[in-house]
Formats: sequence, structure tokens, C-alpha cells
Amino acid sequence: MKRYVILISGRGSNMESLLDAGLPGSCAAVISNKPDATGLAAAAGRGIATTVIDHRGFASREDFDAALATEIERHAPDLVLLAGFMRILGERFVRRFEGRLLNIHPSLLPAFPGVRTHAQALAAGVRLHGCSVHFVTPALDGGPIVAQAAVPVLAGDDEASLGRRVLAEEHLLYPRVAGWFLEGRLRLVDGRARLDGEAAVAGALHAPQAG
Ligand code: GAR
Repeated sequence: MKRYVILISGRGSNMESLLDAGLPGSCAAVISNKPDATGLAAAAGRGIATTVIDHRGFASREDFDAALATEIERHAPDLVLLAGFMRILGERFVRRFEGRLLNIHPSLLPAFPGVRTHAQALAAGVRLHGCSVHFVTPALDGGPIVAQAAVPVLAGDDEASLGRRVLAEEHLLYPRVAGWFLEGRLRLVDGRARLDGEAAVAGALHAPQAG
């Protein structure tokens, strides 16, 4: 059975959606860079081993990345899922896990990388917003996109209401993509995400839910 590890920094709602999705694999561990991440209790409550690698205990980003990589490798995962993991990972780390490292980002990339994506979308006045699952490369939020889900931006939306609508889609999209990977259907080939050998991920944009 394939094994995966989930990295979190906070609430862990995407982690919960992954753990509850019945993925074709087993979660070997949930690792947080923050000791107070509330998602840790949710993971432990599901019987998953949890570890904290506190980034504040390391002199450099490289030292933290190395410790994190060692902890992940201990579980020999086929897949590493960043789920609200809010530390930038260095090139060395990313190269080490390239092709088996996925992230979910709360925007339709390449629009709105970084933080406060819902505020960015409202400020830009876009009519569609959403989330993206992508393979991680050294470029921040810039790796090959696997799948996206779009939601409408509604009159009267604020950061919180728009964020809730996007998050509901995140909870559907990420388990779906993780499932593809664990089934051996999704691969990174020549810098592109391939599903069932196709260069583009067909049918990955699923219907937006209005309201
Ligand atoms: C999610 O919206 C996720 O997409 C985002 O943080 C939130 C974490 O929520 N990730 C990023 O912004 C990564 N750049 P969660 O802890 O409840 O899953």
C-alpha cells in the first residue's frame, strides 16, 4: 500500500479532508512546523502519528529543511502533501522530493501567489476565484498545475465569505488529486503534470458551486 505524509502549520482542515477521504494509501504521519497547530489534535484523534519540527529551533532555513526531510524520509512516503504548510521550502528540499510533493493553494494560479489570496482577488475585482493543486518546484506557488476548481465571486463577498467558498472546493479537490497520485495515475513528466499519460489534465476543472 502506498504511503503518504501530510505537512501542516495550523488548522488542518485540508488535512482532515484528506484523512477522511478514504484515499488508496495510508497516512504515515502528520508533521507540523508549529507546536500549537490545532490540526495536530485532529490527526492524533484519528490515530495518526504526529510530529512537530519547530522551525524556530533552527539557525537557518537549510537546517530546518534538512531536519524536516530526515523526518519525512523516516516514513519512506510515496507522496508528501503540503496542506496549509506555511513555510517556504528551499530548493534542495524541493528537489529531493520533486515529483512526489504536492501543494494546495487558495487561488487560481498563476494569479495571486503568496498570502491573503482572497483579499488579493477582491482587490483585483476578478469574477472567478478558486484553488489550485500543483506539484511543488523551487518557484514559490509556481509549480506545474494539476487541477483547479473555480468559484464565483459574488456581490457583497468579503475575504471571509469568499475564503469559505474556496475552502469548500479545496476539500473536494485535494483528496481527488491525491487519490490520482496514489493510484499511480498522476505523474510529473518533463515539468508537466500528466494524468493517465495525457500532457494536460483533462476534466480537472470541476463545476463551480454557486452561492
Ligand atoms: C488553505 O486555504 C490552504 O489552501 C492555504 O492555507 C489554508 C490552510 O487551511 N495554503 C496556502 O496558502 C499555501 N500557500 P487548513 O489548515 O484548514 O487546511
